[in-house]
Order: sequence, then structure tokens, then C-alpha cells
Amino acid sequence: MKINYLRVSVTDRCNFRCRYCVPEGTKEFIPHSEILRYEEIAEIVGIFYEFGVNSVRLTGGEPLVRRGLENLILQIKERGIGEVSLTTNGFLLSEKAKLLKSCGLDRVNISIDTLDPEKFAYITGTKNKGALSKVIEGLETSLEAGLTPVKVNTVLIRGFNDSEVEDFIRFSENYEVEVRFIELMPVGGEFFTKENFIPASEIKRFIEERFGKLIPVKTRKKGPAKSFRIEGTQAVVGFISSVSEHFCNSCNRLRLTSDGKLRLCLMKDREIDLKSILRSPVYSRELLKKVILEALVEKRSVNGIEALRSLGCHRKMFTIGG
Ligand code: GTP
Ligand code: 5AD
Ligand code: SF4
Repeated sequence: MKINYLRVSVTDRCNFRCRYCVPEGTKEFIPHSEILRYEEIAEIVGIFYEFGVNSVRLTGGEPLVRRGLENLILQIKERGIGEVSLTTNGFLLSEKAKLLKSCGLDRVNISIDTLDPEKFAYITGTKNKGALSKVIEGLETSLEAGLTPVKVNTVLIRGFNDSEVEDFIRFSENYEVEVRFIELMPVGGEFFTKENFIPASEIKRFIEERFGKLIPVKTRKKGPAKSFRIEGTQAVVGFISSVSEHFCNSCNRLRLTSDGKLRLCLMKDREIDLKSILRSPVYSRELLKKVILEALVEKRSVNGIEALRSLGCHRKMFTIGG
């Protein structure tokens, strides 16, 4: 599998506290001095580009809470990367979408777990009842700005949003955006329980029974999501079955944490410390290149051999960026 995609977490901080992501009582964040500067991220991305990475996704925490993100996008594009995308909670998008686009951002994925304003405030841990409408405004601005295709990420939670499948289908039709249903992953502390978990197959079956056949949408892109149009409608839905399906064999991605560690897998704690090489008083680009190349070789060799996911992820989700 060609490794051509890098996810870069630019901060572990977030203006939301989604219950499945940030365990209750979380106070500690990575100190600012430990977070990579934009120049450092661009240096790493430049090396990945030389090794064939052509797509970078910026994640968080919430990437838009980090000041001047547009400057990072400019620097990444200058290094030659073809596509830069952003995964965001959307709260700050209405203010920033146009600037981000003008600096080279290609597209955004926005998390919306419910279309009910009160439930939205509950799940995101905000007191702001207007949060959902601000996020939807951000989605509208992104569409206008051409940050397309815009995708919506919806984490499936039993007893919380399983009653809203139809609303999400209508939402997909109205806005012409794909809504991706994501299986809840056991990485956010106490929130994950067997009772909360909904397998994507259950929602798939429900949609086929109630709304129409799911017709696969062909995409050029490799990734964990499988996309479908619902027959007889304009709705496009996707499924990310991180828990119930093993897609490690086709994994094309690496992750850079905001404190400069390269992770070979979301679910495995093997990390390679790039920051200490970057910050060494005798910094050598050649050494950084060598270590990154070794990581790429290691990533290819473990694919499919190990059930990576069973090895456990002890980092909190908001420090990896999903
Ligand atoms: P596209 O490029 O638009 O397909 O984006 P994406 O789905 O790769 O990225 P996004 O940040 O929107 O991720 C959506 C969900 O998929 C998040 O919950 C991620 O944690 C999950 N996800 C993304 N990549 C992986 C992966 O390699 N393994 C697992 N298990 N989950 C992933
Ligand atoms: N399970 C599934 N998805 C999660 N995300 C964050 N925590 C979890 C979890 N425990 C998702 C967010 C966002 C993406 C970056 O990761 O909803 O869409
Ligand atoms: Fe923030 Fe995203 Fe985690 Fe929600 S899921 S707390 S928006 S990082």
C-alpha cells in the first residue's frame, strides 16, 4: 500500500468537549512549548512530500483554535502538497472559511452528531444553545467558499442520535453534502459502552429497509469510509466502521501528533519522536529523512501482518486528531 496521506494534528486544544472524545475532568493539555511550530510542521511535511505524500489533513483537537492556521496551509502548499483538507467542529468556520480557501485549503469535514440544538449543546459539552446553528452557518460558508466536497461526520450513539437517521438523510439532500456515520470508538474514556455502540451495519440495514437501496459511490480516494447514494434520492451517506471492520490492510495513512510524534496507526501506541530530531542543536535534515523513511518501511511491513487495533491506544483521541 502506497503511503500518500498524512494527518497532522496542530493542537490538542478544543473549544468543545465532546463526551466521546474528551474524558470528563480533563484539564491537562500539552504545554505550548512542546507543540510543533508551523515551520517545524512544514519541514516534516516537505520530507513526506519527497517520499510521495500528496495529501495532508489538518486535525486537532480543533485546528481552528490555533492562531494563524492559514499560514501553515500556505507553507504546506508551498512545499508542493496537492491537497490540504481540514477536519473541524465547524464552530469557527463561518469566520474563517473564505480566508482558508484563499490560502489554499481544498476541503473540510465537519462534525455534526445531532441536528437538535439542545442535544448538540449536550454532546459537545458547550452551554451555548446557538452552537449548532453557528456550525451550520460554517458549513454554508464553506460551501459558498468552495471548500468542497464538504463532508459531515456523525458519530453513532445509541439512544442519542439513532432516531435522527432520516433527518440526516434530508440534511444530505438539502445541502448536497455526504453524511458519514462513524462507529463510536472506545478511546474517549468512560463514554464508550456496549450499550452506546451501534454497528454501522445496523444503520445500513435500516436505511435500505426504509429509504432505498444503497448504491456504492465510486471514489478515487482510499480511506476508511464507504460511500453510497440512496436509490431514488439525492442523499449520499458514508460509513466508517472502525470497530466492526478491519481495514488495516488498506491503510494508507500516518499521523503526526501536535507534539511532534509520528504514529503509524491510530490504535497503536508506537510513536517515533520527530520533534527531538528537529530541535536538536545539530539538526540534520538527512537524519530526519532517514528516520521518516524507516517509519514508512515499518508501516508497510506491519500492514496486514499484525492486528494493529488490538494493541491498544493509550493516548487520548484529541491528542491524535482521529
Ligand atoms: P476523507 O479524506 O474526507 O475521507 O477524510 P477521513 O474520513 O479520512 O478523515 P476525517 O478526519 O473526517 O475522519 C473521520 C473519522 O474517521 C474519524 O472518526 C477518524 O477517527 C476516523 N478515521 C480516519 N482515519 C482512520 C484510520 O486510519 N483508522 C481508523 N480506525 N479510523 C480512522
Ligand atoms: N469515536 C468515533 N469518532 C470519534 N471522533 C472523536 N472521538 C471519537 C470516538 N470516540 C471523531 C469526531 C471527528 C473526528 C476527527 O473524530 O467526531 O469527526
Ligand atoms: Fe473537540 Fe472534535 Fe474532540 Fe469534539 S471530537 S471535543 S470537537 S476534538
